[in-house]
Amino acid sequence: MNLELTGQVAVIAGGANGMGRTIAKAFAAEGAGVALIDRDPVVEDVAQEVAGHGVETLSAQVDVTDFPALQAAATRVEENLGAVRHVVFTVGIDSGKGGFPFWNLDPSDWPRVYDVNVQGAVNTAHAFYAPMIARRQGTFLFFSSVAGQIGSQTDPPYSVSKAAILSFMQIAAKDFAAYNIRANAICPGMVQTPLQQRIYQFSTADLPDDERPTYDEWCAQKIGRMAVLGRLVSQEEIAAMVVFLASEHARNITGQALNVDSGWVMHW
Ligand SMILES: NC(=O)c1ccc[n+]([C@@H]2O[C@H](COP(=O)([O-])OP(=O)(O)OC[C@H]3O[C@@H](n4cnc5c(N)ncnc54)[C@H](O)[C@@H]3O)[C@@H](O)[C@H]2O)c1
Repeated sequence: MNLELTGQVAVIAGGANGMGRTIAKAFAAEGAGVALIDRDPVVEDVAQEVAGHGVETLSAQVDVTDFPALQAAATRVEENLGAVRHVVFTVGIDSGKGGFPFWNLDPSDWPRVYDVNVQGAVNTAHAFYAPMIARRQGTFLFFSSVAGQIGSQTDPPYSVSKAAILSFMQIAAKDFAAYNIRANAICPGMVQTPLQQRIYQFSTADLPDDERPTYDEWCAQKIGRMAVLGRLVSQEEIAAMVVFLASEHARNITGQALNVDSGWVMHW
């Protein structure tokens, strides 16, 4: 399928690692210029790697909780790469602690997760929306999770933040619709990334050494229990959905939470 994204500009917040990095490459493979925003300094190397696809790239080492820095990055992107057409917010952090029950966490474990996962998404939308609505063209995509739909106990602040993302996405979809801008959310199932590795570490830290599964065993056991297809989702499968949603083939999809999750959560 020709997605016709050639020459368009995509911004990937959280593009230095995990799914964001794979999504940046997927946009570049479709011929789109890519701006990568991330607090991790490796973002510069990733931008160079993505440029290997023969597209223009730009990197900005920014923490998404820093709104003025995001605004400055947005101006740089418009000036150097051109009109931003797609904004993908993949940034997400865990609390670093397991739930079961939630009072195993301290109230002070919650605000940073909200600040990055929710306020970071709001800041990013604020930083980029104005020229997009003036041009009456574009898409926003926010990363939520199945955890936000099922009251997942694994990491309570994370689950609550992912539910909040869905609400913000729906508000944005309504507010942007008159400007021909779509907003959607992706809810991945279980994808092997640095974030998933961290969740494995805190979820298994208290087990005796001889009972602790390997990372691959833990992933296989969990996905086998939770999702009807029993398969991990690959980063590339997520990226394929992201570029499809950015394309005009998805012109009538807005306000949706799309689960790419091996059948973990089902809607009708
Ligand atoms: N991996 C999974 O199984 C899974 C499942 C469901 C949802 N998700 C969601 O998908 C998204 C991508 O997840 P991932 O697994 O690729 O994560 P990851 O940890 O591998 O990558 C997240 C990126 O966000 C960046 N980041 C973190 N805090 C930041 C901040 N304050 N400012 C700027 N950048 C920041 C990190 O440096 C990193 O590059 C996240 O929103 C996550 O919650 C992941």
